Amino acid sequence: KYEKIWLVFGIGALIFFLSVIGVSAFYLGNQPPSCLATIDPDKVDQTAPFSEPGLKKVEGKDWDYELVYVAQAFSYTPNEVEIPKGAKVKFIVTTKDVIHGFEVAGTNVNMMVEPGYISEKVATFDKPGEYLVLCNEYCGAGHHMMYSKIKVV
Ligand code: CUA
Repeated sequence: KYEKIWLVFGIGALIFFLSVIGVSAFYLGNQPPSCLATIDPDKVDQTAPFSEPGLKKVEGKDWDYELVYVAQAFSYTPNEVEIPKGAKVKFIVTTKDVIHGFEVAGTNVNMMVEPGYISEKVATFDKPGEYLVLCNEYCGAGHHMMYSKIKVV
């Protein structure tokens, strides 16, 4: 007799939690924090700002530069960027194909880049030197060769 009660209780709890997640994801629009906007992965090359990846100076924002990257198996565009020391930079990243990682070693920039989504993160570069941008999300045979360089001068 008691088994039946527990079974019903268990299934009921499962349905309850699943519906909480469902309502939160679809009705309230809760998505992982890196997904700030969406983009058509097939049209990345034609869609601003990704039609012109690279570093741009911006005015009147909380950051000094915007640095746009397009990830694809197995590289990043641009491949190398020079940033002036002390610059506050907003990274804006998307991918054309599969999920990639975007980690700037030695900083607090560590994002997942998903096709169709734009990942953003702001960081300040106070220390001069070379920073490696690494893919930390397994994306295929060339995953370990996927990197880009940032030079802070
Ligand atoms: Cu791209 Cu791993």
